Amino acid sequence: MGSVRRLSSVREEPSLRQTPREASPRRYLMCPPAHFEVTYSINPWMDPTKPVDLPLALAQWEDLTAKYRALGHTVELLDPVPGLPDMVFTANGATVVDGRVLGARFAHPQRTEEEAAHLDWFRRNGYAEVRVPEHVNEGEGDFAVTSSWILAGRGFRSTPLSHLEAQEFFGRPLIGLELVDPRYYHLDTALCVLDPARDEIMYYPGAFSPGSRAVLSRLFPDALLATEQDAATLGLNAVSDGRHVLLPQAAVDLFAPLRDRGFEPVGMDLSELLKGGGSVKCCTQELRPRQG
Ligand code: ARG
Repeated sequence: MGSVRRLSSVREEPSLRQTPREASPRRYLMCPPAHFEVTYSINPWMDPTKPVDLPLALAQWEDLTAKYRALGHTVELLDPVPGLPDMVFTANGATVVDGRVLGARFAHPQRTEEEAAHLDWFRRNGYAEVRVPEHVNEGEGDFAVTSSWILAGRGFRSTPLSHLEAQEFFGRPLIGLELVDPRYYHLDTALCVLDPARDEIMYYPGAFSPGSRAVLSRLFPDALLATEQDAATLGLNAVSDGRHVLLPQAAVDLFAPLRDRGFEPVGMDLSELLKGGGSVKCCTQELRPRQG
């Protein structure tokens, strides 16, 4: 695990290195961390005895939204609700594919009130197909979308039944993946889609069960493999627009392998939000439009 095998596939595969990378404009749903704090612990990153610097959390989050806008993306805003400190992690609130919305159902009671806030936002913003889920799923925290598949995490939060529900609702083939390390409790802490059109991803194998690792290496033989150190900075909690990859700046060792593939890594400092167990991707829900 964590062996530095990751550059080899690119060296053997010159086509990947020469792949022209083009950004495409995205639409993201975000929520300012106006009420962010760590008062409970539902993942190993959260320590309620550690103070949070709220003005710094807000400034770091503003930097991220400003960066998205500067890159030409649209940022939609969800109103923060007092008493819901994890609401800044909008990735967990829903999954939107082809303009269809699968709402979230949180595993922990501390977050259940976020469900309605997300559903309301979609209803008020003209989304006609909004499904209130039957089974526990934590949105894009556990669902990642490529052009061929929906990759779905389970083991800590989203349940296997939610995978069936998502496949049926979106009508896309879904690959279930078992997460085994509590530090990587959501799929988006261990795997990132770099280019959905090419089914190109990066992931940390150590976060997955042996069977799921085998599935990933079969489906994604050219994936960028992250090391344990990359994962430990939440370096995989990244957002790619097809060219720019926004990721925690502490994930320094991922920059060169991303550049080798023609991506432009953009380091972001979200150290305060890391105290809640999230980084770039957790703060970002992608609103994928209807195709054609
Ligand atoms: N404190 C939040 C939780 O444990 C963090 C969520 C991070 N979000 C994510 N998409 N991984 O639920």
